[in-house]
Amino acid sequence: MQTFTTKTIRDIALESPQTTRVFEEFKIDYCCGGRKLLNEVCLEAGLDFALIAKKLESVMNDNSRSGDSGLPEKKSPSQLIDYIIGKHHLFTAQEVERLTPLMEKVCQRHGEQHPELFKLQTIFLALADSLIPHMRKEETVLFPFIQQLELSSTGEVSLPASHFGTVENPIRMMMSDHEEDGERLRVMREISNDYVLPDGACPSYTALYAGLQDLEKDLHRHIHLENNVLFPAATQLERDVFALVR
Ligand SMILES: [Fe+2]
Ligand SMILES: [Fe+2]
Repeated sequence: MQTFTTKTIRDIALESPQTTRVFEEFKIDYCCGGRKLLNEVCLEAGLDFALIAKKLESVMNDNSRSGDSGLPEKKSPSQLIDYIIGKHHLFTAQEVERLTPLMEKVCQRHGEQHPELFKLQTIFLALADSLIPHMRKEETVLFPFIQQLELSSTGEVSLPASHFGTVENPIRMMMSDHEEDGERLRVMREISNDYVLPDGACPSYTALYAGLQDLEKDLHRHIHLENNVLFPAATQLERDVFALVR
């Protein structure tokens, strides 16, 4: 029997990435808010801790039986960066492009009967305006620097020059964006009443809510991999490289 009372959400998610499915199911924040203890989060949100612990244990046992090799959490920083760009950045950019006109169409057709759609659109557009430049900054500034750090850590190439000082500075900026986008996702869920469709919702309305929920789920996983796996690894790499040149 696992002891979940002394573990943070982040620790549980890192130990067994499959547990993030349980966190998604109960709307427990495992990316930006992942540093809280599971029992505290349950208490705050009025969730049944014993039930959640049982579900977590069950997916953790399934995981240990099937093995966890190949999980992105086990990749090197450079491999993880390739994975994040190829899977999460690509998906996010495609979905923002697809959902933006769909959102407009649903607002035009149903906004009169469902005015909350306009509020949802405002937050979604703010989210899109944040995500696209955010990913560009990661791909052009932070990620190449981390890849250089990884090469330097072997002593084969020298420490990369940067205009931002320590890697912790851009990481702090990216984490602050994550926090704001996480809050936008939370507000969108609130406005849409947990994406419950009205009676007789048309296919576009249905497709929009399904798409927004998929985007939310993907972003939670994406942010978790950066905040909890890649960024701590990059900070450690930088320390190792500094120790090497001293
Ligand atoms: Fe990213
Ligand atoms: Fe990010």
